[in-house]
Amino acid sequence: MIQIAPSMLAADFLHLQESVNTVNKYADLFHLDIMDGTFVPNISFGFPVVEAIAQKARKPLDVHLMIVNPGKYVERFAKVGASYISFHYEAAKEESAAVLAQIQALGVKAGIVINPDCPVEKIFPLLPQVDFVLIMSVFAGFGGQKFIPESIDRIKAVRAELDRLGRTDVPIEVDGGIGPDNAADVITAGASILVAGSSVFKAQDPAAAIAAMRG
Ligand code: DX5
Ligand code: ZN
Repeated sequence: MIQIAPSMLAADFLHLQESVNTVNKYADLFHLDIMDGTFVPNISFGFPVVEAIAQKARKPLDVHLMIVNPGKYVERFAKVGASYISFHYEAAKEESAAVLAQIQALGVKAGIVINPDCPVEKIFPLLPQVDFVLIMSVFAGFGGQKFIPESIDRIKAVRAELDRLGRTDVPIEVDGGIGPDNAADVITAGASILVAGSSVFKAQDPAAAIAAMRG
């Protein structure tokens, strides 16, 4: 099953309800990008915005933490209704296993994220534990960047290792520069959750863009 997770970072914040309706009607998950200005050079939005979306969301919330010290905030994101929480391996390093366990203890699906310059092998020791993997196909920090083609081989490598471990049901999410023109390629490589910001919310017809990505 392919799931489309529109990134609310690309929504029109003056008409947030409209973007929420689009996801409720046509997509599968709300992808919420949390940036702290330290782990990444950008600042996005925080709890008041997440809470407002949570009140109207009829699809699960997928929180992507681009922050230092992610373990400090996972409980609060679980409380406001996150169903999925992912954090960067580069931010947690040797504490990653403990943060994954912390998220799982809250009854939330736990994912590890890697930036394009992080060797995929770094997260192999965590693959027996994760509920999903998020592979960045741009450098975390900004929407509207161009898809990095080398991401295809990285998705394949993580998919192969998950399958080797017998974890065929663990999904790979891909994030950055995804749209109708490259969705089929990342799906063929082994991804099944597609994050899409600009290609959904800057499209003339967001519903059609979502349908096109499902193939
Ligand atoms: C980038 C974020 C992405 C971003 C995707 O740091 O993690 O989720 O919003 O936006 P597009 O689809 O425009 O690349
Ligand atoms: Zn994201």
